[in-house]
Amino acid sequence: MRCILLQVVLALAAAAAAAAAAAEPFLRTVVSSGGRGVGVDSDALYFDSWRLSVETANAGPWSFVPARCGEFVRAYMEGERYASDSAVVAADSLAFAAQSSASAKGATKPAWVFDVDETLLSNAPYYAESGWGLEEFNETSFDEWVNVAEAPALPSSLKLYNELQGLGFHIVLLTGRSEFQRNSTEENLLFAGYRSWEKLILRQSSDIGKPAVQYKSERRAALEAEGFKILGNSGDQWSDLLGLPMATRSFKLPNPMYFIS
Ligand SMILES: *[C@@H]1O[C@H](CO)[C@@H](O)[C@H](O)[C@H]1NC(C)=O
Ligand SMILES: *[C@@H]1O[C@H](CO)[C@@H](O)[C@H](O)[C@H]1NC(C)=O
Repeated sequence: MRCILLQVVLALAAAAAAAAAAAEPFLRTVVSSGGRGVGVDSDALYFDSWRLSVETANAGPWSFVPARCGEFVRAYMEGERYASDSAVVAADSLAFAAQSSASAKGATKPAWVFDVDETLLSNAPYYAESGWGLEEFNETSFDEWVNVAEAPALPSSLKLYNELQGLGFHIVLLTGRSEFQRNSTEENLLFAGYRSWEKLILRQSSDIGKPAVQYKSERRAALEAEGFKILGNSGDQWSDLLGLPMATRSFKLPNPMYFIS
């Protein structure tokens, strides 16, 4: 028993040392600028604060990434942090799913709703070509990219998706993409490794101009009316998650590239 405790203590100490080492360059950056921040260092610090603000929705609606953050968005998306942040969201989602599916055995159809872009599929290759969100959204070029149907999966989302299916969840995909993009969206999801979703819901002509919160809430209401019990909902936008009816738990994935109201 003592020996196990000692091992746990040693493992914790090692983890703390690793975390301190990882944080060290950042601390050095702040300290070397006297805590006030100047030049490149202050941009790095600002990016971290800006990202917290957009992820929490404190920033409210925004149209493009501030110029001083552009390089940091690229580094975040291409480096390990995006993958790591996404993997932690997936782990939290799975922990909830495992516990709720165990307690939800019964008449209901337990469902998990996924958004598509920046949730199941990553459009990072498109944003790498179009300035990482520094420029305003270009629907024409984005639709061209959608038609190519080669967006890769977010690895942690694909893993979660498969694990949820293993737990018996009905998987519903609810996207802001339009009905005319159904074929390319299905083709892309298959290309990325997704299989056996229960429904793929896209915007119909009657949904044009509706805010995402309204469109997605209406579809969640329709799903509940069909007998699905929406236990979990995953999306990179608050507009994927807010509005009634809401999932029992909602999971916000990171996205510092764009905002959808
Ligand atoms: C948007 O993308 C299209 C297609 O790639 C391009 O022709 C057009 O110039 C772009 N518009 C802007 C404002 O950049
Ligand atoms: C979608 O694919 C089906 C066959 O898989 C085809 O019949 C249909 O015309 C396609 N629709 C569009 C809009 O491309």
